[in-house]
Amino acid sequence: MTPETAPKLAVIGCGGMSQNFATAIEPTMKVVATVDIDADRAQAAAACFEDAEPMTDWREALAVADAGMLVLPHHLHHEVGMGFLEAGKHVLMEKPLANTPAECRELIEAAQANDVILMIGYVLRYHPLVRRFVDAVRSGEIGEVFSVSIWTEQYTRYPSGHWTCDQARLGGGQFFSHGCHYVDLLLAMLGEPVEGSHLGTTIGTPWMEGEGTSHVTMRFRNGALGYHFGTWGARGTRLRYAMHAHGTEGMLEADLSTGRLILHQDNYEGAPHEVGHRQMTGEGAQQRLLMEIEPGKHTANEVSHFRDCVVHGRQPLTDGAASLQGLQVIWKLYEAERAGVVADLSGLSLPTHDLKPTVQSANRAVTTNR
Ligand SMILES: NC(=O)c1ccc[n+]([C@@H]2O[C@H](COP(=O)([O-])OP(=O)(O)OC[C@H]3O[C@@H](n4cnc5c(N)ncnc54)[C@H](O)[C@@H]3O)[C@@H](O)[C@H]2O)c1
Repeated sequence: MTPETAPKLAVIGCGGMSQNFATAIEPTMKVVATVDIDADRAQAAAACFEDAEPMTDWREALAVADAGMLVLPHHLHHEVGMGFLEAGKHVLMEKPLANTPAECRELIEAAQANDVILMIGYVLRYHPLVRRFVDAVRSGEIGEVFSVSIWTEQYTRYPSGHWTCDQARLGGGQFFSHGCHYVDLLLAMLGEPVEGSHLGTTIGTPWMEGEGTSHVTMRFRNGALGYHFGTWGARGTRLRYAMHAHGTEGMLEADLSTGRLILHQDNYEGAPHEVGHRQMTGEGAQQRLLMEIEPGKHTANEVSHFRDCVVHGRQPLTDGAASLQGLQVIWKLYEAERAGVVADLSGLSLPTHDLKPTVQSANRAVTTNR
């Protein structure tokens, strides 16, 4: 492919998430097929693109596409992914990669054997505000980071019988399905986890077989702590989608719902008891707006990174191996929760997952940075 090429893409699965890509793919890539077992959905999705053919069987798309974007129920990721990779097609797989370690490994090996790209759609890793947050944590901009906390409060309720309600098809509960974004982010920011615990509950989300609410805490090799609270049962929210990082020289506050990233730095002087007093009154506190962007998923950045990897043969930032590392952490945490112990997370690092530098191509933000 030449650097100007727009690879031909088939979108497989035209449900809820795929709609976030309606205006994010072209002209970076050319959508040639939209596939869904529901013909009306395939048809409606095709209408979003210049020249896409609606189809109801993903196998038909192999004849016309260079790559597949798989936006499918989790239990189908492995089967359809293998079909694409073994046909020599590149794959952008919605998270999580697959429902078992063996399935994940097969997908990673199939991509290697067929010399094609396998990228996981961890869209937050390409979100400009999150990238700025991650870079600030990694670079020491707020000193030595000792805690990163992430809250995601939402109400996610599908109709009874939907695949997300079922533990086998979802691959677990809310933690596996949604928390995988945040485990991936915590690992990207803080490095190697050494221990942790997850506790989940089904109270509040009776439509789900697995947990609908979870709290996870991890300690990292560098001593820092990472935390995620996620719920699909929020009947109200104050924190919405928020990320906080505390360092020895400041605190970062990201609000993904409003698209704002703020740096807090307090001028601590005097005796310790006075410091506490100043915190209470806010005296000496400084706040600086580091970035402000439009709220949203910013899926165009993810597609642009995938396209660059396909055209230039580059390894994606969110490749199969790095994604498997995060999923292994989740499986280990689930296992320890069942056993009633703290999970030993050491030794889960894979050689390809280190603190990679940010990828330039993913910084092409369609945003206003102030
Ligand atoms: N990153 C994010 O923010 C985010 C948000 C939501 C969902 N997701 C991910 O997107 C993926 C899809 O989730 P969703 O919410 O869109 O689900 P969904 O149920 O809304 O859509 C799935 C679609 O796949 C279709 N489908 C089922 N079997 C098929 C088959 N054999 N061939 C073709 N189409 C088939 C269904 O008819 C449906 O239209 C999952 O991996 C999910 O985790 C990501």
